[in-house]
Amino acid sequence: MNIRVINKEDWAIYRDLRLMSLQDSPDSFGSRFEQESLFSRDEWVTRLNPDNRAKYALPLIAELNGVAIGLAWGLLHNPQDKTAHIYQMWVSPDVRGQGVGSLLLKNIIAWAKDSDLDYISLAVTTINKQAVKLYESYGFEPYGPLEKLREASMISVQPMKLKLCATAA
Ligand SMILES: CC(C)(COP(=O)(O)OP(=O)(O)OC[C@H]1O[C@@H](n2cnc3c(N)ncnc32)[C@H](O)[C@@H]1OP(=O)(O)O)[C@@H](O)C(=O)NCCC(=O)NCCS
Repeated sequence: MNIRVINKEDWAIYRDLRLMSLQDSPDSFGSRFEQESLFSRDEWVTRLNPDNRAKYALPLIAELNGVAIGLAWGLLHNPQDKTAHIYQMWVSPDVRGQGVGSLLLKNIIAWAKDSDLDYISLAVTTINKQAVKLYESYGFEPYGPLEKLREASMISVQPMKLKLCATAA
């Protein structure tokens, strides 16, 4: 199994993974398959283009025997707040429970530490016990009030945070 950073040349692999994830796990993500399946080639490329996307990003895929089976992004929206965010975490159902999600997470944590950041934050639905357990095993803790997954959604999302640096506020 191989974890690697993807770039704009990988846009079709990224598109296929992302659309698979939205189809497979509609209750895990704020965005919807119906929205993102309408994206043009340029929109996918732009997300992966370092000139256009947020300045600091770590888009990762996991590959098994050359087949893409997992996806996760680390993203730093604002270098001043020293907090990276994790988005789009997904592992193909046939290889879950074998440490792929854990490895993606480990890579993002290492990147955030190397970037001298103080925190990593993410949001996970309260019904997603597997994901919550995985994040807790790395030391993520709930913070802030529950939010709605989407407007008018009955599903709640819990923000979670991992403190990377003992001296962080
Ligand atoms: C959440 C998600 C990404 C986790 O991915 P995963 O690859 O299954 O996660 P891991 O395998 O690393 O860890 C999950 C479990 O496998 C166990 N595991 C880890 N390495 C293992 C190994 N080598 N052999 C067997 N089990 C292993 C972990 O201990 C954990 O088990 P536990 O629940 O008993 O503690 C995946 O379930 C998923 O894609 N869900 C749908 C989308 C989603 O919810 N995304 C999160 C949005 S916030």
